[in-house]
Amino acid sequence: MIPKEIIDKIRQSVNIVDAVSKYAELKKRGKYYWCLCPFEPENTPSFTVDEVNQRYRCYSCGRNGNVFDFIAEKEHLSFPQSVLRVADDFGIKVDEKYRRESSGRYNESQKQIIQLNKMVSELLNHLLLNTDLSKEALRYLLAKRHLDRDTISDFQLGFLPKNWSLHDFLNSKNIDSQLQLESGLVSQYDDGSIHDVFSNRIIFPIKDEYGNVMGFSGRTLDPNNSAKYINSKENAVFKKSKILYHFDLAKQAAKVSGRFLLLEGYFDVIAAHKVGVDYGIASMGTSLTKDQLSLITKNSSQLTIAYDGDSAGQHAIWRAINEGYDIPGLKINVLTFPGGQDPDEYLQENGNESLESFLNNNSISINDFAFEYLKKDHNLSSTSGIAAYTEELLDFLRKINDPIENDLTIKKLSEQFGINRQILERSFGVKKQQKKVVFNGQDNHFVPNKDLIDPLEKKQLLIERKLIVSSIVFESVFNLLNKKTDFSFLNKNFQLYFFFVKGYRSEHPGVDNIFNEIVSEMSASEKKDFIEQTQYGNNFYATNNLQAINDYIWQLQVRIPFDKKINDIKAAIQQAINLNQSDQIQRLNVQLANLMKEKAENTYE
Ligand code: CTP
Ligand code: MN
Repeated sequence: MIPKEIIDKIRQSVNIVDAVSKYAELKKRGKYYWCLCPFEPENTPSFTVDEVNQRYRCYSCGRNGNVFDFIAEKEHLSFPQSVLRVADDFGIKVDEKYRRESSGRYNESQKQIIQLNKMVSELLNHLLLNTDLSKEALRYLLAKRHLDRDTISDFQLGFLPKNWSLHDFLNSKNIDSQLQLESGLVSQYDDGSIHDVFSNRIIFPIKDEYGNVMGFSGRTLDPNNSAKYINSKENAVFKKSKILYHFDLAKQAAKVSGRFLLLEGYFDVIAAHKVGVDYGIASMGTSLTKDQLSLITKNSSQLTIAYDGDSAGQHAIWRAINEGYDIPGLKINVLTFPGGQDPDEYLQENGNESLESFLNNNSISINDFAFEYLKKDHNLSSTSGIAAYTEELLDFLRKINDPIENDLTIKKLSEQFGINRQILERSFGVKKQQKKVVFNGQDNHFVPNKDLIDPLEKKQLLIERKLIVSSIVFESVFNLLNKKTDFSFLNKNFQLYFFFVKGYRSEHPGVDNIFNEIVSEMSASEKKDFIEQTQYGNNFYATNNLQAINDYIWQLQVRIPFDKKINDIKAAIQQAINLNQSDQIQRLNVQLANLMKEKAENTYE
């Protein structure tokens, strides 16, 4: 029995909103958070989380309760198990004695597999270190992989000899065949015969964060075997996406070092251990999952990713970053090794140099990683390539919630490519506002608004087209725009054309129509876009009425953003209507009325 005071203390230190967020995408609408019911399929959100009272209720299936009820049902746990799970998930310490007294983390059938795994892991470690059957494997590990017997013991590495049967051994110990099969250590052929799965492989026991052996990974010794590694099949305990190699020990080490080091392979983790870095972990050949990230976040606030230096490694880093950049309380950075080496190779060569100091001196931020990584898809010797790269990088930065890092990155971008800093900032900020998620009234799904065709976006584009064409055709219009230091085009093509115009006009004052001169400086693909975008040869869009030009600028800078705000409120009212939130509808209507009034008062000149 866990005392009531402790249960209350745990409940008070967690927020049910955070707990439910791990299972469903919550959106705040009025008093409650809403989402699709995590228990039963549905098309419109009926599940609510009340943050004030820390309870949930589903208006469709009727389920309701507190955070412990939620986790108990979601994870199929008893109430005390659920209390402990919640405490663990939120990093709240609970006296070990309650753990023992409650029926524990694993149920009976899970415990059977874990116990079998433990026995097998010890056995295979013994076979590797002490028998002739494993001579070749042991020599490989000591000579080729530079391990020593202590390290082999630390990681409880094993070997399953070719001419020896684990299945026979387990039978002789009266281990039920069904349990053997369930564990994934053996498998059954179509003819009914049972065989060892990991035969002739070096065995890496894979443990959970408490050191229970959940499954195995086996590396072949046969260079002709196309399956270099195989893992235990997924079963009641081995869930690859929720486990990190070496996490049980790394979690202690991370408390001292303040970070985890995410490596690509088991041998990298072992090599780090050999040089005294024990906070190394690895996923099992798959990209990092949210579950693994939450395990990491529970135990440390920093993660350094050090994958292999090859392009597959760089790509995997990018994927991990994109999975983890928005996790509150976790800072990710990246370490790359020189010359495309993997950490294992690097550490073999530089064993004496402290890995820690290498880490501290060579880790880069995710912004810096993105800055270099995103270059690879663009031709940076053309202006359009630079523009596309800039847009992609800004898109990434908009997701990063670190204003200082972002500011430094924008500065770097501006300096490295000679792009006007104010323009970068404006483009960065404006799109960021537009990125909001809106509710699409028709099918009740949350969709990003970039998928909607927005008449305001069209209007904006049309006005910008008039401005750019006019500045190409009339010097006076260009002069007016050029003087407005707070003005830039949102359409990146137009902004680029404006640079061409500016470049040409600065050297050739007194000329009006410069269409031909501008085109002649463009690359073929730029030319094609330019002709399309400006209706080249057709001065339909051009005006030299400066009063009109000033009005256009006002539309872009004041009126259109204001109208966008009004549209956002209208969309929110539609949502509130869909969700039947009368308080919210009323509140939003008042806001809308005020904005309309303000709009009527606020006209140009
Ligand atoms: N992996 C896997 N299946 C494979 C290859 C790799 O599951 N066929 C996983 C393993 O977890 C491995 C990691 O991906 O540890 C990294 O792969 P790799 O760099 O190829 O393996 P290493 O462990 O570094 O082994 P080695 O140095 O012997 O090549
Ligand atoms: Mn490797």
